[in-house]
Amino acid sequence: MPTKTIIGVIVAIVLVTAIAISLLLLLPDKPAELVEEETTQKIEIGEKIKLPEPSYTSNVSVEEALSKRRSIRAYSGDNVTIEEVSQLLWAAQGITSPWGGRTAPSAGALYPLELYLVVGDVEGIDKGVYKYIPGEEHDLEKVKDGDMRAELAEAAGKQESVKDAAIDIVFTAVYERTMRKYKERGIRYVHMEAGHAAQNVYLQAVSLDLGTVVIGAFIDSEVKKIVNAGEQEEPLYIMPVGRKD
Ligand SMILES: Cc1cc2nc3c(=O)[nH]c(=O)nc-3n(C[C@H](O)[C@H](O)[C@H](O)COP(=O)(O)O)c2cc1C
Repeated sequence: MPTKTIIGVIVAIVLVTAIAISLLLLLPDKPAELVEEETTQKIEIGEKIKLPEPSYTSNVSVEEALSKRRSIRAYSGDNVTIEEVSQLLWAAQGITSPWGGRTAPSAGALYPLELYLVVGDVEGIDKGVYKYIPGEEHDLEKVKDGDMRAELAEAAGKQESVKDAAIDIVFTAVYERTMRKYKERGIRYVHMEAGHAAQNVYLQAVSLDLGTVVIGAFIDSEVKKIVNAGEQEEPLYIMPVGRKD
């Protein structure tokens, strides 16, 4: 082949490659929702997902966590990981003994508390409402599709922290479980237990360098509807959690 033809072919190849690369660079980025759909597993209602095993050690001492604990209401907008979700739910109500003893004490070991996770932005889990199943399972069961953070914030008197957090943990209680044994006094026991579990979440959040706050101001009936709580359950706390701003 004459030298001129060879040079011509090489120039043509270089030109075509350059045009192809330019066209690729000009293509618009994929919308964030599409990227998210590709990387986030779609979970059906009623389906369970296994949470990663929580960690039982950390470099943050209880004393450090106690001295740094503060209510944090402003978040960066970044997501939290499934490992962090697992750790926070375990801190609240994880089972830590073969007979069912948990991280938080419970009058008569009757465990009236239930936890719901309102997912807005968790790496690897799609938006929706999930119920925490403690124990060996350490599972989440999906109860509702969609991002419910804005509605939950409305139910909490438009408190921005609820909407801005990556997740909201909703604490409910079945009073009957405790009142069957302790009658009227059981009411105060249930409230004390919500406090124990919520403090565990606060301390765990410090240890994970996340921000949280307890929210007690909301319309009970609306919160119940949002998380699909059972007839007998009453909401007690919402804890938004997110990366600190
Ligand atoms: C029972 C209870 C209800 C609360 N409700 C809300 C609430 O609805 N919204 C909120 O932003 N903070 C709420 N807080 C958080 C307090 O405002 C906060 O603990 C207080 O300002 C002290 O700040 P610290 O937690 O940083 O020490 C509540 C705290 C408790 C104990």
